[in-house]
Amino acid sequence: MKIDYSTSLYGLIGDPVEKSLSPDIHNLSFSNNEINSVYLAFQVKSEELQKAVEGMKSIGVKGFNVTIPHKVDIIKYLDELDEEAEMLGAVNTVKNENGVLKGYNTDGRGFIELLKSNGVEVEGSKIIILGAGGASRGISMLLAKEGAAKINIVNRTEDKAVRLKEEISGHFSSVDITTGLKDDYTEYDLLINTTSVGMYPNDDEVPFDIELLSDSAAVADIIYKPLRTKLLKEADSKGHKIVEGLGMLINQAILSEEIWLDRELDKKSIIDEISKQFK
Ligand code: ATR
Repeated sequence: MKIDYSTSLYGLIGDPVEKSLSPDIHNLSFSNNEINSVYLAFQVKSEELQKAVEGMKSIGVKGFNVTIPHKVDIIKYLDELDEEAEMLGAVNTVKNENGVLKGYNTDGRGFIELLKSNGVEVEGSKIIILGAGGASRGISMLLAKEGAAKINIVNRTEDKAVRLKEEISGHFSSVDITTGLKDDYTEYDLLINTTSVGMYPNDDEVPFDIELLSDSAAVADIIYKPLRTKLLKEADSKGHKIVEGLGMLINQAILSEEIWLDRELDKKSIIDEISKQFK
C-alpha cells in the first residue's frame, strides 16, 4: 500500500508495547480492506500520558487504542465516554471526531462476539469464570449485561472475586452470582479462563479440572500463546466445544476499527490469517 498525504494514522499507546500484536492485526485489516491508513505502537510513560493524548489530538490522529497502564487514567483526558466504557471505568479505544475525543471499551464486547461466532449462547447460560482481574471484569460485566443466568467467579484471591461479584450485582441485580469453587458443576454451560494459568512458558498448567463439567459445556480461554492451551486441548479431547483466545484479541481490535471507520469489517479472515502466523 502506498503511503501518501492522505494516509491516516492510528496507533496504540501503552507501556510496554513492544510485544503487542495490534499493529499486525490493524495493518493487515487496512491492507485487506484497502484502507489508506497505518497503525503504529507508541510507548508512552504514565507521566507523559496527557501530553501524548493532546499530541494525538493536535496532529489529527483519527483514533488510537489504549493499553496497560493507561486504560483508567486516560479517562480524565477524554471529552466523552460511551456507555460500556463508563460502566467498566476503563477505555481501550479512543475516537477523534473533529477534535472531540470519545472513549470506548471493546475488550468484553470482543469476547462476547467471539462466543457468538462460535455458536456459544450467553443469554440464559450458567457460566464459570476463572480469574477476577481486569480481563475477567470486562468479560463478566458484559456476560451479565447480555443476560447470563448464573455466573460463578473462581479466583485464587477470593477477596477480588467477592469485590467483582458486588460490582456486577450493582449494575445487574438479576444475575445469580457466586464466588469460590463449587462441588457440582454439572448444570453449567460454559467455562471461561481469564487467568494466566497455562500461558507460555507455563504451557503445562491447567486452571480447572475438566472432569467436573458436563459433556455439553463449552470451554473458552483468553490466552492465545499457546493458541490452544492445555485446558482447551483436554476439553477438545473430551468432546467439549472449545473457543481459542486469539479471536478475542482480534475481535476487540477490529471492533475498534469499526468504531473509527464507522463501517463493518470482516473479522474471521483476520483471525484465520493471524492464527496461521502463530502456528
Ligand atoms: P488481566 O488483565 O489479564 O485480567 P490481572 O488483572 O493481573 O490480568 O489478573 C490476572 C488473573 O489471573 C487474576 O485473577 C489472578 O489471580 P489473583 O487475583 O489471585 O492474583 C490470576 N492468576 C494469575 N496467576 C495465577 C496463578 N498462578 N494461579 C491462579 N490464578 C492466577
